[in-house]
Amino acid sequence: MLTITVNGKKREVHSPDSTPLLYVLRDELDVNSPQFGCGLAQCGACSVLLDGQEIRSCISSVSMAAGKEVTTIEGLSARWAKQKSLSPDQAAKTLHPVQEAWIEQQVPLCGFCQSGMMIKATELLESKPNPNVDEIKSAFTDSGPSAHLCRCGSYVAIIEAVRYASTIMAKGGSK
Ligand code: FES
Ligand code: FES
Repeated sequence: MLTITVNGKKREVHSPDSTPLLYVLRDELDVNSPQFGCGLAQCGACSVLLDGQEIRSCISSVSMAAGKEVTTIEGLSARWAKQKSLSPDQAAKTLHPVQEAWIEQQVPLCGFCQSGMMIKATELLESKPNPNVDEIKSAFTDSGPSAHLCRCGSYVAIIEAVRYASTIMAKGGSK
């Protein structure tokens, strides 16, 4: 049995160590935001953060996550609250700037790819708080094993949302 930390909580895992993290999250731990798109690390729908770095959970065994912190979009607001040292009361009312920006810019169309897109945006903004358009495009196309793909063509809205999230973060979290 493995113990992994998902969105700040320690979770026991009974699946075999070689099981893809995506299957463990969805089928065993009921964390359903990462999606199964291609299963081949080619689309980004399954992306999660592992110690702050985007990984493709469809090809990553759950044993890779032992002793590390897995973050999905269910954990983004708590991640931001911890980074900003918010009180429990404040934290309960707070969204991550990426979540706020995605809502404000109405980014999702069908929504299938958007969990992975928000994870990528979070990774980018934690390492580069004020990315320009070329840096945003590069992060979503060049920095992973493959580009993040959206069948609905939400790419322009994603760039706008990342820029908007950056301005929220620069103000400390308020719009
Ligand atoms: S499902 Fe993992 S990259 Fe497509
Ligand atoms: S919003 Fe539909 S696949 Fe991206």
